[in-house]
Amino acid sequence: MAAAAAHRLLFLLAISLAAVASTRAHNITAILDGYSEYSLYNSYLSQTKVCDEINSRSTVTSLVLTNGAMSSLVSNLSLADVKNALRLLTLLDYYDPKKLHSLHGGSELTTTLYQTTGDASGDMGHVNITNLRGGKVGFASAQPGAKFQATYTKSVKEEPYNLSVLEVSDPITFPGLFSSPSAASTNLTALLEKAVCKRFAALIASSGVIKTYQAAMDKGLTLFAPNDDAFHAKGLPDLSKLTAADLVTLLEYHALPQYAPKASLKTMKGGIPTLASTGNGKYDLSVVAKGDDVSMDTGMDKSRVASTLLDDTPVAVHTVDSVLLPRELFGGAPSPAPAGESAADTPTSAPAPEVSSAPAPSPKHDKKKKKPKAKSHSPPAADSPDMAPADAPGPVGDGEPSDKDQDKNGATAVGMSLVAMVLASVAALVGASLL
Ligand SMILES: *[C@@H]1O[C@H](CO)[C@@H](O)[C@H](O)[C@H]1NC(C)=O
Ligand SMILES: *[C@@H]1O[C@H](CO)[C@@H](O)[C@H](O)[C@H]1NC(C)=O
Ligand SMILES: *[C@@H]1O[C@H](CO)[C@@H](O)[C@H](O)[C@H]1NC(C)=O
Ligand SMILES: *[C@@H]1O[C@H](CO)[C@@H](O)[C@H](O)[C@H]1NC(C)=O
Ligand SMILES: *[C@@H]1O[C@H](CO)[C@@H](O)[C@H](O)[C@H]1NC(C)=O
Repeated sequence: MAAAAAHRLLFLLAISLAAVASTRAHNITAILDGYSEYSLYNSYLSQTKVCDEINSRSTVTSLVLTNGAMSSLVSNLSLADVKNALRLLTLLDYYDPKKLHSLHGGSELTTTLYQTTGDASGDMGHVNITNLRGGKVGFASAQPGAKFQATYTKSVKEEPYNLSVLEVSDPITFPGLFSSPSAASTNLTALLEKAVCKRFAALIASSGVIKTYQAAMDKGLTLFAPNDDAFHAKGLPDLSKLTAADLVTLLEYHALPQYAPKASLKTMKGGIPTLASTGNGKYDLSVVAKGDDVSMDTGMDKSRVASTLLDDTPVAVHTVDSVLLPRELFGGAPSPAPAGESAADTPTSAPAPEVSSAPAPSPKHDKKKKKPKAKSHSPPAADSPDMAPADAPGPVGDGEPSDKDQDKNGATAVGMSLVAMVLASVAALVGASLL
């Protein structure tokens, strides 16, 4: 038995080490910071947050443009269109000069970020790489007959086989690439209705919160729209019982005053202020990310970010699978144990069952004014000053240090869980030998 336990220990160690290796990530912004000739390209990577999409990929080739080529590309484009151009220049495979010049059969189709995250129709998100006459390597859209305007110029950075940065002469384009829907001309209500978020669309219209959203759009807005099914979920509190002020708070809780496409949500740590936030972490949301899955965590339940309806910097509209229920309105903490690594924090758990189990009010936590009616919907000043310290340990974001800090402090976090695993395994060994 002891031998079996020892094997398990080794196995766990191996897994943990693998985790350490895969959490170290590249940072395209930092890499390009070293090259002034790509500063415009780099600046647009940041503005459009495509840098987060690139950094989240373990195998990627960035085709970069010099400031000259970039400025003629962006001269007439919306940021949403620039975003798609940058995504089409991001190949989801590793290409260094050697591989480029020795393509099997002289030509290869590769997929791009535009195919996986953009609005590509058919295989328009693929790029055809071809060895042209005269030793040149050309890149073109997968559309038959597309011109190889973009050609390879030089290698900028190679981190085999994860990240390659290559300079190309021109952008890759095709007719229709630059026709992203724009937030300015989008009818939000119509957009939501079309995506089967009719109930949410009706609520934001009747409560007037849509005006709050629209006012925030200039400076940055991210909206989480629950689909119609979410309003029929078992265990959902009766929203018609909310006061008008609390309904407004609930709806404002479904929006962030910043631009956060999905890839950027994944990188966010701790409490994220919503339009309903009153400071001190109240009405903040947090993110639980696992692979490509992103969920918003209210502290009471988690709601999966399902799809993106609109992504036009600085406005993003996502659908979510359940109504986001702020603890401050609906009371009850997820677990009676002191905040920490409770089972409720496991990011893998499906959101649906938690919705139904969460709302059971726990009177124990009622020292904060919890009842929907009791909450005064007044500006921060009213209830924050003396509440602040008492509430501090509780904010939504504090629950999951090992998950949340992994990217930034990967080594530390994984190291700590390593220690925990070793301790657990040693305990198992001791237990086994006692038997
Ligand atoms: C990447 O590098 C940039 C510039 O050096 C820095 O501002 C940014 O925080 C880094 N991003 C991550 C995710 O570490
Ligand atoms: C590099 O690529 C390998 C194989 O795809 C992957 O396992 C590893 O996590 C990657 N490393 C980084 C830093 O992304
Ligand atoms: C920019 O767009 C305007 C209006 O769409 C068009 O008239 C103009 O020719 C474009 N300029 C360039 C350089 O493409
Ligand atoms: C790439 O494009 C060229 C020219 O249109 C075409 O001949 C070739 O078959 C394409 N390659 C692939 C892999 O589709
Ligand atoms: C937006 O769409 C809704 C529903 O489709 C419609 O009732 C409303 O009039 C539209 N608003 C504007 C400003 O076009």
